[in-house]
Amino acid sequence: MELTLLLEAAIAIRSGKLVAFPTETVYGLGANALDPYAVARIFEAKERPRFNPLIVHVKDTGQAREIAEVFPAHAEKLAEAFWPGPLTLVLPKKAIIPDIVSGGLASVGIRVPRHPIAQRLLQLCEVPIAAPSANQFGRLSPTTTQSVMEQMHGKIEMILEGGACEVGVESTVVGLFAEGAFLIRPGGIPREAIEGVIGPLKKVDPNGPILGPGMLRQHYAPTTRLKVFPRGELPLASLPSKVGVLAWNGEHVPGDARQVEVLSVHADLTEGAHHLFAALRRLDLAGVEEIWAEQVPNVGLGEAINDRLFRASSLT
Ligand code: TXA
Ligand code: MG
Repeated sequence: MELTLLLEAAIAIRSGKLVAFPTETVYGLGANALDPYAVARIFEAKERPRFNPLIVHVKDTGQAREIAEVFPAHAEKLAEAFWPGPLTLVLPKKAIIPDIVSGGLASVGIRVPRHPIAQRLLQLCEVPIAAPSANQFGRLSPTTTQSVMEQMHGKIEMILEGGACEVGVESTVVGLFAEGAFLIRPGGIPREAIEGVIGPLKKVDPNGPILGPGMLRQHYAPTTRLKVFPRGELPLASLPSKVGVLAWNGEHVPGDARQVEVLSVHADLTEGAHHLFAALRRLDLAGVEEIWAEQVPNVGLGEAINDRLFRASSLT
């Protein structure tokens, strides 16, 4: 691939745009992992109704260390054995990785892809790239640019052609936590190969009553009680002084709330998604006794925002 095209893609990533690129597993839909607004656009393009955690692609183990809070001995061994390649390690995240990347989890999935185009893109753009598979929500992961084009045409800025993907299934996802090593998603590297390096992997049952390792389920939920109201129906007349408000676009914002966060003054759902986690955190730290959140329009990214609000309200 021409260097100019790769440079153009790297500049696009750095300026908050979306670039589909080949990896050895499937095509990824990439954005600057350090830019929450760019990452919000990924969810918009995929029409995901939820903020699922995204895999962050890095150029090498050194860059992986820059985004992981700890890099345990098992990570070291697995990186040595399988990176670059179809293995994702889930590790406690550093604060520079925005919450929207991890879907509010305290951990981050990291992978060093071995496809030469992915490698060169990562080297040129010098930021980690958050990238889920480049398909629409609920559809198959694309292994050719044709199927990326079918699903993403008009929604993203660039697609890098890299031929058919060699592996064709997604990476194996392994979580390394204080509670042990877990197989989170089977994929391109067989379980046996991983167990050959670090010993037996534990099972995760995402639907079971016992939810596996604490880290996996540790969504960021405000510790302050959160109530969700329909749009325009915040009971502002009776607003107690110790209530913080998470409002949609400011149309119904009270003047006297202790703390008010407006998700998007422009009533723009991508902007709202990008502000969501940070706004919840600020309200949580403001020392209010309760957070009253206004639902956002339930279309596009709004569905994911509302889902997050309801989940936060059920957890507190
Ligand atoms: O091969 C692949 O992994 C492709 C290419 C593009 O790299 N990417 C991919 O991403 O399949 P995606 O977003 O479609 O799948 C991400 C999955 C999540 O559904 C979850 O299973 C796991 O990776 N994951 C990511 N971060 C996680 C975290 N912090 N905790 C638990 N699971 C995580
Ligand atoms: Mg996927």
